[in-house]
Amino acid sequence: MNKQTTLKPGEARSVGPSVQQIIERDGDNPPAWFRQSSYEYLGDEVLTVDRYITREYHDLEMERMWSRVWQMACREEEIPEVGDHIVYDIGHWSFIVVRDAPDSIKAFKNACLHRGTQLRDEGGSVPRFRCPFHGWTWNLDGSLQEVPCRWDFPHVADEAYALPQVKVGTWGGFVFINMDKDAAPLEEWLGELPRHFSTFPLENRYMTANVRRIMPCNWKVAQEAFIESYHVVEAHAQAMPATGDANTQYDLFGDRISRLYTPPGVASPHVADPLDEQGILDFMLGSRSLKNEGYKATLDAGQTARQKYAGVLRGDLERKYCADLSHLTITELLDNIEYFLFPNFFPWFNFSLPLIYRFRPNGDDPESSIMDVMLLHPVPDEGPRPEPAPLNVLRPDQPFTEAPELDQISFIFEQDVSNMPRVQKGMKMLEKGATLGNYQEIRLRHMHRLLDRYVATPPGETLRD
Ligand code: FES
Ligand SMILES: [Fe+2]
Repeated sequence: MNKQTTLKPGEARSVGPSVQQIIERDGDNPPAWFRQSSYEYLGDEVLTVDRYITREYHDLEMERMWSRVWQMACREEEIPEVGDHIVYDIGHWSFIVVRDAPDSIKAFKNACLHRGTQLRDEGGSVPRFRCPFHGWTWNLDGSLQEVPCRWDFPHVADEAYALPQVKVGTWGGFVFINMDKDAAPLEEWLGELPRHFSTFPLENRYMTANVRRIMPCNWKVAQEAFIESYHVVEAHAQAMPATGDANTQYDLFGDRISRLYTPPGVASPHVADPLDEQGILDFMLGSRSLKNEGYKATLDAGQTARQKYAGVLRGDLERKYCADLSHLTITELLDNIEYFLFPNFFPWFNFSLPLIYRFRPNGDDPESSIMDVMLLHPVPDEGPRPEPAPLNVLRPDQPFTEAPELDQISFIFEQDVSNMPRVQKGMKMLEKGATLGNYQEIRLRHMHRLLDRYVATPPGETLRD
């Protein structure tokens, strides 16, 4: 009898070493949260597809979910000076996020209180917000400054006509907003995330890439292309010699946070005839991000490819960033650790490829979405803080490979993106719905479980179980 048939659902795992065994073999002592695996079986029901394709579901998401969650609006570094602002759109709503004082950031509904004209089409820097239609004007703190022909508006009291605000919170150099006036503070929403990033402070980083593209699929289809390593063997087969794809670890932390933990420096369990440790090291040195053509390294007796490669990478990164990284363990330096914060924010814990993803609906179209990709590199210890990369908006048909600031990751994105319109189109014919793996796709199920709870809860009610 196959041993796996005796396991309960969710207990089966790939052959090959687990992430925890790999970390154990690294022989250093990473922080406790990297020694933790935190999976929970959440059932195996199919996932209905109306959530990806119908306007009805989109409307429920807008009314019941997006209106009451913390969502990343921008980086603080995008609005460094008083008057600097960005426009953050979510579905059919739009917000102005502005630095209204040196140490204060506010977020306003982006609509003139006269007849509703959107006050700002895009970000920039202004001394005040002046409506382009009739000139109603607000100060940066949202107080009403001017109503032309005020004699005609005796019924407009300044206090009642301040720009409506939504909540603002910051973490890791990001600005989050929340439309729910009763929302618990961002700190509570973030849960364990700040602790897990304590050796990777995102506030000490700056954007070297800020790329946006409209994707031809629902925002959840787009983000679910990046939420599991199950697809790596098919979509990114080039990584197989030195990527632990099927033995990736998946973790859930509470309702809102999940993690994918993919170890490089080990052969994929899919590879029938894996390279030896020296071969894996050679493969990694030939494909690493900080290219040093022709570089060779020989393993010491008993040394693993991960141990040797981590040393090489540490040296490269220390030189590149003029920083001391001796405190980092091998897993912190090497592994592809991607966190997810509900509903749409993906900060990677990855020193060599410090990615951030965000996915949103594109207006009210359930079949297209906005994908944002950022790269956050460390701010140098000396000299002025570098300017963040400007927003680079690609055309929908323009490949990520035309954004040179994304470097080598753009090629991998294209492999992921190519499947998205196929998913969006094909899923409409799924009679049963989508079928998920119990372990490797647990992050999808986890995300949808909370989304379903929001969608089931009418405005004003406490989130239903
Ligand atoms: S709509 Fe803005 S001033 Fe009239
Ligand atoms: Fe991928």
